Amino acid sequence: MKTIIEPFRIKVTEPLKVISKEERIAALKNAHNNVFLLHSEDCAIDLLTDSGTGAMSTKQWAAMMLGDESYAGSPSFRRFEETVRLITGMKHIFPTHQGRAAEGILALTKIKPGDIVPNNSHFDTTRANFEFAGAYAMDLICEEGLENDFVAPFKGNMDLRKLEDTITGNGAEKIPFAMMTVTNNTSGGQPVSMENIRKTKALLDKYGIPFVMDVCRFAENAFFIQQREKGYENKTLLEIAQEMFSYADAATMSLKKDGLVNIGGFLVCNDDDWAEDFKNALIMREGFITYGGLAGRDLEAAAVGLMEALETDYQKYRHATIEYLAKALDSKNIPYVKPVGGHAVFIDAKAFLPHIPPLEYPGIALVNTLYLAGGIRSVELGSVMFGRFDDNGNEQPGPLELVRLAIPRRVYTQSHFDYIAETLDYLMQDVEKVKGYKITYQPKYLRHFTCHFEQL
Ligand code: F0G
Repeated sequence: MKTIIEPFRIKVTEPLKVISKEERIAALKNAHNNVFLLHSEDCAIDLLTDSGTGAMSTKQWAAMMLGDESYAGSPSFRRFEETVRLITGMKHIFPTHQGRAAEGILALTKIKPGDIVPNNSHFDTTRANFEFAGAYAMDLICEEGLENDFVAPFKGNMDLRKLEDTITGNGAEKIPFAMMTVTNNTSGGQPVSMENIRKTKALLDKYGIPFVMDVCRFAENAFFIQQREKGYENKTLLEIAQEMFSYADAATMSLKKDGLVNIGGFLVCNDDDWAEDFKNALIMREGFITYGGLAGRDLEAAAVGLMEALETDYQKYRHATIEYLAKALDSKNIPYVKPVGGHAVFIDAKAFLPHIPPLEYPGIALVNTLYLAGGIRSVELGSVMFGRFDDNGNEQPGPLELVRLAIPRRVYTQSHFDYIAETLDYLMQDVEKVKGYKITYQPKYLRHFTCHFEQL
């Protein structure tokens, strides 16, 4: 059979309503033209994020009933620990309430002001945590990762030459650790090859620099390796994940992605001294070492979810849905980052709205137009999220102007995808009339979440 079906059927439904265009106009105005400030009931299809928005399986809901809510030493923690150890092979395993809490502990314990942290591409909370601790968060994505149209199998890779230049140019002592984000969310959800992970580890070893992986979407990355990298076609996703983790000294994880749960994260490492530092910070910030900011039932659901994310049928279906949406965009000549990533389609807003300059935020213009056209909520990954102010206070645009349609896991069906494609088609009709925006309020950090916009 050519048709890949959802490897599940629906047992519980959640009502979904498409509010009228007039209501959408009013809702966006009330939200200061920032879709993060919308009420979720006002969104027909919510593609803001794939984080914590997935549907849990019957096995996960059943496991939640086994949750032991003891403060210390619960069997729920041991089940969680056993699963995370099976996948990562790490010696020390700490649950956290989500990924950024793991990043915060890493930053608090390992970064000094003036440090540099190289990464293929930092996620926004990772960057904010490291920069808040005084480091410079440096993105060293490979050249092909910056070419939206260039089709290559592993566009999320680290540029190894730039990594070595960064180390020799600044001195290894300035680099407390280097990081690798799999898949590489902010540059299009693009995968990283095993070869690149292995070579990054070898290079860092040469200079004695620890290697930390940000593994929110490790199972999607494992599937790409199985499909695209020679020598891995007959390995299971678990075996591939185990090999990926074998090169890391530590890892941060948001279980809200490939843990298939609505909340949770972890921080893992092999080094005993690092573990001692993490333990102290964890107890101060998150909770005791056997729950780390989560309920026992959350640990149970994550232990099941992590293994479900490594099922081949699930990954086949997941990737098929994203490719289905990409095909619909192809048929309408809508520019997007090719090939599609593992969790989202990233529309190239610069190419889609060439009449809007970067500092008039073409990504925001597209996000808001998409919401008004069909009640679809998406997110900008462009100059609002990644712009910086230079030393003279002048705003510098981000490297890319993307709009991410992030696909929640096991939530939307084919007709929802058809509705998204139809809305984009409708939006195409008046594309040259779409206007840019200016920012009328912005906070000091992570401005995209809460800033206010006004249409120009
Ligand atoms: N790292 C990456 C690569 C991420 O994509 C995220 C979250 C985090 C770390 C932080 O994890 O949300 O559990 O604290 N990404 C979400 C997104 C929010 O929409 O891409 P968290």
